Amino acid sequence: MRKDRYILAVESSCDETSVAVIKNDTELLSNIIASQVESHKRFGGVVPEVASRHHVEVITTCFQDALSEAGLRACDLDAVAVTYGPGLVGALLVGLSAAKAFAWANHLPLIPVNHMAGHLMAARVEKELSYPLLALLVSGGHTELVYVEHEGDYKIVGETRDDAVGEAYDKVGRIMGLTYPAGREIDQLAHQGVDRYDFPRAMLKENNLDFSFSGLKSAFINLHHNASQKGEELSKEDLAASFQAAVLDILMAKTKKALKDYPVKTLVVAGGVAANQGLRERLAQEITDVDAVIPPLRLCGDNAGMIALAAAIEYKQANVAPLSLNAKPSLTFERLD
Ligand code: KG4
Ligand code: ZN
Repeated sequence: MRKDRYILAVESSCDETSVAVIKNDTELLSNIIASQVESHKRFGGVVPEVASRHHVEVITTCFQDALSEAGLRACDLDAVAVTYGPGLVGALLVGLSAAKAFAWANHLPLIPVNHMAGHLMAARVEKELSYPLLALLVSGGHTELVYVEHEGDYKIVGETRDDAVGEAYDKVGRIMGLTYPAGREIDQLAHQGVDRYDFPRAMLKENNLDFSFSGLKSAFINLHHNASQKGEELSKEDLAASFQAAVLDILMAKTKKALKDYPVKTLVVAGGVAANQGLRERLAQEITDVDAVIPPLRLCGDNAGMIALAAAIEYKQANVAPLSLNAKPSLTFERLD
């Protein structure tokens, strides 16, 4: 009888410290997430130095909790996986150092995982993915369309030229006086408002799969600024609805074009912004001829469970890193041209 396989995974690329354990490549036994969001709220965004310090404070406890919730000891594990990029360098280094020390002390192989592969592979908890697949990855730091011909082979076919979608949500939210991160609240407000401000939808006429959100952000800032100079109060609901309508029109148009350019069996939509209810509604209505898979809400934001789900693929492909592995803050998939 084949022995069960257990991988422990570590994530610390931004403001969540997380450790998870996966059994036999698919079953998450634990996924401990220590969020620092309360500490960063008062600054309106993540402060890198504060993030690193919080990671140091809680990472050991996260390891212990992930193992005890899984009902395992270190000697039961087969490998340790860790996010080594992209992300904040100081934050990445905390998880990476802890994972390396743990791997060395317990004689376990170290599996390097790209954070964006983690977001994408979170979809594996929903069902076994069929290839080739296309993924729309939307988070606080990234907006990209990724073509995956077969397991583990990630290629960028389109990406943002300026802001990431989540970043645009958070900046616009700050202008509206909402707390960080603002994506969820804007999504809720948008459902109560009307798209009346006709914000720009950039790059829709261009024959490529790239995105741009900085013009939309500027249009929003200008409208808000001009109104407040005149002492006019704009409806938060309508602002949110107009902003979200523009974002979703852009995401949907580029995703549909990508599906035409790259016929695939599966569309994965993942990353923090994949929690967006408006996006989920539009995907359900408009993507009908390909199987669309979105990870459950609990696996959309940063967590080590998704890193474990991606690590299982790397482990099968014998992708093991030396203990000299360093953090790569700007790690990116190759572009397919
Ligand atoms: O993937 P994630 O947790 O962290 C990064 O890797 O960046 O994404 C966080 C981003 C934040 O910008 C947050 O505002 C956004 O995801 N977000 C949302 C929603 N929930 C979270 N954006 C739009 N609608 C939501 N419901
Ligand atoms: Zn992320």
